[in-house]
Amino acid sequence: MTRRDRAAGAARRAAELRERIAYHDRRYYVLDDPEISDAEYDELLAELQRIEAEHPELVVPESPTQRVGGAPATSFEPVRHRLPMLSLNNGFTEDELLAFDRRVRERLDRDSEPGVEYMAEPKLDGLALSLLYRDGRLVQAATRGDGETGEDVTGNVRTVRAIPLSLEGSGWPAEFEVRGEVFMRRPDFERLNARLYAAGERGFMNPRNAAAGSLRQLDPAVTARRPLSFFAYGPGWVPDGFELPDTQYAVLDWFETIGIPVCPERDRVTGARGALDYYRQMAVRRAELPYDIDGVVFKVDRRADQQRLGYVARAPRWALAHKFPAEERTTQLLAVDFQVGRTGALTPVARLQPVLVGGVMVSNATLHNMDEVARKDIRIGDRVVVRRAGDVIPEVVGRAGGEREPDTRPVRLPEACPECGSHVEQEEGKAVARCTGGLVCPAQRRESLRHFVSRKAMDIEGFGDRLIEQLVGTGTVSTPAELFELDATRLEGFERIGAKSARNLEEALERARETTLPRFIFALGIREVGEVTARALAEHFGGLEPLMQASVEELEGIRDVGPVVARHIASFFAEAHNREVIEALRRAGVHWPEMRPAAERPQPLAGRTYVLTGSLEGLTREEASARLQALGAKVTGGVSAKTTAVIAGENPGGKLAKAERLGVPILDQSALEELLREHDRM
Ligand code: IVH
Repeated sequence: MTRRDRAAGAARRAAELRERIAYHDRRYYVLDDPEISDAEYDELLAELQRIEAEHPELVVPESPTQRVGGAPATSFEPVRHRLPMLSLNNGFTEDELLAFDRRVRERLDRDSEPGVEYMAEPKLDGLALSLLYRDGRLVQAATRGDGETGEDVTGNVRTVRAIPLSLEGSGWPAEFEVRGEVFMRRPDFERLNARLYAAGERGFMNPRNAAAGSLRQLDPAVTARRPLSFFAYGPGWVPDGFELPDTQYAVLDWFETIGIPVCPERDRVTGARGALDYYRQMAVRRAELPYDIDGVVFKVDRRADQQRLGYVARAPRWALAHKFPAEERTTQLLAVDFQVGRTGALTPVARLQPVLVGGVMVSNATLHNMDEVARKDIRIGDRVVVRRAGDVIPEVVGRAGGEREPDTRPVRLPEACPECGSHVEQEEGKAVARCTGGLVCPAQRRESLRHFVSRKAMDIEGFGDRLIEQLVGTGTVSTPAELFELDATRLEGFERIGAKSARNLEEALERARETTLPRFIFALGIREVGEVTARALAEHFGGLEPLMQASVEELEGIRDVGPVVARHIASFFAEAHNREVIEALRRAGVHWPEMRPAAERPQPLAGRTYVLTGSLEGLTREEASARLQALGAKVTGGVSAKTTAVIAGENPGGKLAKAERLGVPILDQSALEELLREHDRM
């Protein structure tokens, strides 16, 4: 082969790799349905890097290898927007939404049913960005700035994999702008903070700050290592004479076809009623979205109507941001107490000046552990930012900005357990401090019992915190097995327990004796074994005996079990005391049907692919997908023509609409249960 042939071969292969990488970027970022693993993706990229290193003449600006970031800048150049970047009018109440819809109808002279069509989508909590494409290539990216003039952040934006460097398909104008929001997904934000902390650096308070900080880095190589995401929400400047699709919704569909990611939660709604329904659904789903949103945005869908409505001051008359109550507020840290958990871990708990967060009065919040307190440099008396998202426990995310208050005091870890006085130990290099009292510590006994009876564990009805507290406090019960020695006579007489509730409690215990292996394993409270891992263990081993005998190596080979968890499991069963408790529970009549170990189980759903959306009753999405996977099915995040069915719970998202569009079958919760029951005899 001649040198020329080799060079031609390399050029062909480089072009092919670029195309494949762009294809997989689109599957990942636009369709949310990756076809290959991250490792396989990295291999493609590495091969392209090798070829380009050998043949530097093949490097083009659109190559995905160029996403590593160019030379650092000393400042950002100003960019004058061709079309100003406006803001949105906000509404906080239902009345404000109704008034908005009324004004729109009046101005459009459309007072009859069925009402105005709106495009609805989440209001993303990030930063606005304007992207300029010329001949299908990204040539400029600018921040909003004051709306008239922003900053040129092209070098940084080129490193964001979610933003295509070149567009797909054809038919776009020679030059046009796309506008949208850069943001950071919560899991990416948490990983980034963990990485920064591990490197001894300061973390970010929330994903929004992380996105802003990452985009405004002078060194694009730093931005390249920051996991930023992007959703487009509308067109910017478009040349005169170029016909965009008729509706806002169709414009976003068009963006999708040319490779620009848009929010999958977008939907079309009719009238104020439809808009309110959407708002309420999103308020519920907010907590489970992988990114922060601070409201929903409604936009009159027909672009001709948008033009008729026009603008007032700095905002369109055709759009409204309906905001959610803030999830973050600042308040004063009054004191710090320490709570002892099931495994003895001491959690610093902030006592706060009560503050309304997300519609709920918060006066206590977790500070996680002493490392976090140190990292966030929090002292008693400080003004702090408190966050409460969905059902999660409120947490102190950091110190509020500005001057420090005078007379603050450091937070100190107690030397003795506040519950039993035992020595408190902090393992070398570990964030968590633990009480060494074990089951001598009433807090640990109480917490393990609470866990044992909880709904997802043994599900023993009626044993509330108060009763457990008394049972432990009086020394009546100290191990889970002793619970089963209780009967109505002994229970009667505890505070608030009359004859009738005592009988109910006895019956609840009786019912709980018959359980399932996954529940039983979860109830044991092995460190870091949650319900999903418990189920994986049960499915793998089929019975308790083989699990108790399993070596660390064997445990590590199981889905969901890493080396740390494997060690926790093995040492739990090595402990004589734990074996005794298990023995006593069996003697007390606790039993479960054995399961067939995974290796011997058929995989009746092999070859099928499901997508879950919305919330299911009494079953998390994780559990549902673990059970489908155990039967051989694949569970993915994005709907495509290849999806077998979409399983839709309450308040499903945009995936449902997509399934309808693609003609993918839709199953409800009872159909899912039927499917599991049919194949899953566990
Ligand atoms: S539309 C003329 N849609 O909110 C319309 N904005 O308060 C201008 N934002 O600067 C924006 N999600 O940074 C629009 N789905 C969405 C949005 C959104 C977040 C931000 C954006 C904008 C600000 C306006």
